[in-house]
Amino acid sequence: MSLDGVICCFLKMTRRHFLSVSDLSREEAEQLIKQALVMKRGDTPHLLSGKALALLFEKPSLRTRVSFDIAMQQLGGHAVYLSPDEVGLGKRESTSDIAQVLSRYVDGIAARTFSHQTLLTLAEHSCVPVINALSDLEHPCQALSDLLTIFEKKGKLAGLTLAFIGDGNNVANSLLLAASLSGMNFHIASPSGYEIKKEILARGQEFAASSGAEIRLTSEPCEAVKDVDVVYTDVWTSMGQEAEAERRRLVFSSYQVDEKLLSLAKRDALFMHPLPAHHGEEISPGLLDSPQSVVFDQAENRLHLQKALLAKILSSTSLGVAGK
Ligand code: CP
Ligand code: NVA
Repeated sequence: MSLDGVICCFLKMTRRHFLSVSDLSREEAEQLIKQALVMKRGDTPHLLSGKALALLFEKPSLRTRVSFDIAMQQLGGHAVYLSPDEVGLGKRESTSDIAQVLSRYVDGIAARTFSHQTLLTLAEHSCVPVINALSDLEHPCQALSDLLTIFEKKGKLAGLTLAFIGDGNNVANSLLLAASLSGMNFHIASPSGYEIKKEILARGQEFAASSGAEIRLTSEPCEAVKDVDVVYTDVWTSMGQEAEAERRRLVFSSYQVDEKLLSLAKRDALFMHPLPAHHGEEISPGLLDSPQSVVFDQAENRLHLQKALLAKILSSTSLGVAGK
């Protein structure tokens, strides 16, 4: 094996991937939120000077792509965006070969993939950390930055209750894990056949048993939102499910979040959505601009949280990184 191969094997033993919210302990999640708040106030040292991040995206993106790129710039490093057509993950070249090639150029890979299995393959063969920038299973960067937004607005996480209305999708999965990890109660109202994934629920229940959070599943939006602190929804048709869009519009038609549903939550409840939103589908027209909506703060906080995350995962000098 070449010297570079030996170094790569060593790096594989010490690198830290972030593919799921459950890759973090509660303490680490809290530390990231605190670090993100420090960085948001303007204290961003050049911890990643000379480092590079590949943005390997199979699906479109506005927030994730731009916030990772700007995060790297503000930390003194830079990002390289690779579009689906350029790379052809698993088509032009095998995912394992791509992981090994990129590992020779960059210090980290943020990947957005259709299948979560593609991320696992990238992580298995990469010598540098792989970050989940959204897969069909999870959107952990979104969920962590949502915790940051809730913490900023409410001053705490433990003891609050978040209600998710709609599809038990990638965003719901990561939010369930993030809430139960941090002691926040999680309600979800989904139609039959579109519930949260069983393995995610089981993991969330383990977290909840140790954090004291409560997880409640229902098919009734009104029941889920009653007296909660945060009402959250996401699109009914996620990227990659476009062929099901018509059917999903019918199945989810009574799951729209509007002013009336929001009024059943606490008077000072936050309304959240990861964006992009489909006005007139999962939200009533105008809801994003209601006084309770914090959706644009959510979008901004992607940048701050990801700066803290990148500093933790890619920097050898800061914040303490545990091997994995
Ligand atoms: N919320 C989110 O991930 O947005 P993008 O798909 O635009 O990155
Ligand atoms: N559930 C959505 C989230 C987009 C940020 C999707 O996967 O398309």
